Amino acid sequence: MSAQILNASSGGQFHRRYRQDEKPVGFSLNGVAQTGRHGDTVLTAIMAVSSHVRHTEFTGETRAGFCLIGACQDCYVMTEEGQRIRACTTPLQEGMRFVTTTLAEAGV
Ligand code: FES
Repeated sequence: MSAQILNASSGGQFHRRYRQDEKPVGFSLNGVAQTGRHGDTVLTAIMAVSSHVRHTEFTGETRAGFCLIGACQDCYVMTEEGQRIRACTTPLQEGMRFVTTTLAEAGV
């Protein structure tokens, strides 16, 4: 596994324009080491390296949050430990591990 620095070429839907010099914060997404920045929310960190944070329970469509202020509940993301957290209001912490793949995507 290799850490990826967040930037416009990271493949994420969000592109970091400010605070690029903040302290790096390591986390993992679907088993791959990633790097966010101090002060990121979980949603910001994930969306800087990915196109989505989850799949809907109803249709399987990808979702990336909607309100970004903690009101719509569209940004819930699962941790590897099975905990569901609201990504847009949760500060990113070193060592967090998230899963955004479906079982089919994971080959299970
Ligand atoms: S994006 Fe609406 S609650 Fe997080």
